[in-house]
Amino acid sequence: MELEEYAKLSTDDLAARLEELKREKNAVVLGHNYQVTEVQMVADHLGDSLRLAQLATETDAAVIVLCGVDFMAESAKILNPGKTVLHPNDRATCPMAAMVPARDLQAFRADYPDAAVVSYVNTSAEVKAVSDVCCTSSNAVEIVRKVDADEIIFVPDKNLAAYVASKTEKKVIPWDGYCYVHDGFVAEDVGLARGEHPGVPVVVHPESPPGVIDAADFVASTGGMMKLAAEHEELIVGTEVGLVDRMNREYPDRRFYPLSAFAVCRTMKMIDLPQVVWSLESGNHVVEIPEEIRARAEGALARMLELSV
Ligand code: 13P
Ligand code: SF4
Repeated sequence: MELEEYAKLSTDDLAARLEELKREKNAVVLGHNYQVTEVQMVADHLGDSLRLAQLATETDAAVIVLCGVDFMAESAKILNPGKTVLHPNDRATCPMAAMVPARDLQAFRADYPDAAVVSYVNTSAEVKAVSDVCCTSSNAVEIVRKVDADEIIFVPDKNLAAYVASKTEKKVIPWDGYCYVHDGFVAEDVGLARGEHPGVPVVVHPESPPGVIDAADFVASTGGMMKLAAEHEELIVGTEVGLVDRMNREYPDRRFYPLSAFAVCRTMKMIDLPQVVWSLESGNHVVEIPEEIRARAEGALARMLELSV
């Protein structure tokens, strides 16, 4: 059946078909917190980048359908060479990950012979392959502290690099990348939101600019934000709106407000339910990474998992 045909089925029919396919193919559906609601609803597990990587190593399923952007599907494959990893829409990419080409990083690294390279998971497999260790937004500070070097080249997010630098004694050499969704927040957004919701605490993602981080009460990954949602009756949430949808769905008696309703990651929204079902039924798009790159990238990801408790 062609992809267009799946779009004609009802949500209930698609969900039932997906359940059947999962049993038939021994598959698991993993979804990032920014996915559209209909995808979040059918995912077996939702999580931030760290949790998705951990889940990918824990699952017994033979097939992993990764609903998120490209680097998330690649990370699942890097950690699971023997499994089939499917990415329902291979045009769903992370623009920030594309801001650091592996060749440029290698040339840059030559200027800092004593520095370790810590790459955010929002990078290509090629960049991971030339990095010492990876990190996510939930463990970046911990990883940089634990890495055995005083100088750290941190790629690609300049805002996360600045946040890490403010929390460690290390010399952090940033790359000039950024996430357009979080970099678009300004400190005035925090002031305006506090004015609209007096007394409600503000949490922001560490991909936000330093002025926004300084104006917030908490800084957390999307997984960390879900934990805060469990502890607060109300929260102003400075990240992509998909996570705010998840909070309001899972805690209907509480109130979660987006810092900006315009914080939408367009590529995260490029996967829908018909594509997820089509992906598993047709076996598209298989994530493939040349073994020589995969094995080296696995070293950097595995070191991250070892170092994060
Ligand atoms: P998390 O790991 O916090 O979910 O962040 C992923 C991401 O892409 C943020 O923009
Ligand atoms: Fe990439 Fe930003 Fe989208 Fe996250 S929100 S996937 S960092 S563009």
